[in-house]
Amino acid sequence: MNDLPHTEQPLAIVVLLSGGGSNLQSIIDHITKHTLNARIKCVLSNDSKAYGLERAQQAGIPTRVIEHQQYSNRESFDLELIRCIEQFQPELIVLAGFMRILSDHFVNHFYGRMINIHPSLLPKYRGLHTHQRALQAGDKEHGLTIHYVSTKLDGGPVILQKSVPVLAHDSKESLAQRVLKEEHIAYPQVIEWIAQGQIQLIDDQVIRHHP
Ligand code: GRF
Repeated sequence: MNDLPHTEQPLAIVVLLSGGGSNLQSIIDHITKHTLNARIKCVLSNDSKAYGLERAQQAGIPTRVIEHQQYSNRESFDLELIRCIEQFQPELIVLAGFMRILSDHFVNHFYGRMINIHPSLLPKYRGLHTHQRALQAGDKEHGLTIHYVSTKLDGGPVILQKSVPVLAHDSKESLAQRVLKEEHIAYPQVIEWIAQGQIQLIDDQVIRHHP
């Protein structure tokens, strides 16, 4: 069982990303608008060129880069990630396009306080190229999943799913845009639920306590 965070203080979070960081931007914007009671203590990336780092710097958020190429194996990279993240004492670790598969040790260390957003309606389309796979399968609906991270890739307990229609002339880009627009609404919403103490993980089941 994970601990319910306190409700008055902003939820302390660390965001991990590898790319553009549009989800990070949405989280920052919700904090600025006071629709999300959280504080981003650090944005951490495995890629020094990730545009998400610039977004963080523009918002005055500390950043760290830990390049996986500098480590001889996944375990030593993950140990350094843990050391770095723990310095900031986060209550929640938010994966927002972090393109590294994490070791079991890392995942178990943060189990119950690390969430991910995945661009498909899991269990459909774990892994990459989800939009293309949904189009190729002729799916009529597609979407996103926000879940706790477990040692099973894209397989942890689901907190929220949102679906979008697949339209007749969709390309993978147009479909990705439609999903991403929903991601930008759903991810801050789930983080706010956690900040308010509405979400609990008990025996790998997500319980939502409605206010
Ligand atoms: C999103 O599609 C998210 O679902 C996936 O990685 C992408 C990150 O996009 N995990 P961005 O960097 O937040 O724009």
